[in-house]
Amino acid sequence: MDNANQDRRGFLNWLIGGGVIAFLGSVLYPVVKYMVPPASGEANVSQVKLPFKLKDLQEDEKHFRIFKFGRTLGIVILTPDNQIRALSAVCTHLDCTVQYRKDLGLIWCACHNGKYDLEGRNISGPPPRPLKQYAVHINKTTGEIIVAEGQG
Ligand code: FES
Repeated sequence: MDNANQDRRGFLNWLIGGGVIAFLGSVLYPVVKYMVPPASGEANVSQVKLPFKLKDLQEDEKHFRIFKFGRTLGIVILTPDNQIRALSAVCTHLDCTVQYRKDLGLIWCACHNGKYDLEGRNISGPPPRPLKQYAVHINKTTGEIIVAEGQG
């Protein structure tokens, strides 16, 4: 075998080897990427300071707001007797986000007409369990609202 044939054979081996590696990489990379969960920037938390103040809630005509509580959602409500309640906003039926219906005086899930009272107790429709309650602390000077694990 002459040198030209050896060079050609070496080049073809290099080309085929590189192609195999590229093929395996293009197949394996998406598989590995799919199987490894993405890093989450949000950890479980035990309390949050809400991004709005008591005054904002009082001026809001709906009298409720949804807020992030770590990886989940919460709902804070200004009740007709001027109390602030915070509960999980995740319906216990199929995880839809609930809302406060001031006109009905209850917490309502639009997905399947589930209803909860203002303590979070499931009172009508398919929800099997009450909503989780959170403790609420209000800074009387600044109007900041802190929501924490535990009953309020
Ligand atoms: S998800 Fe709320 S009632 Fe079904």
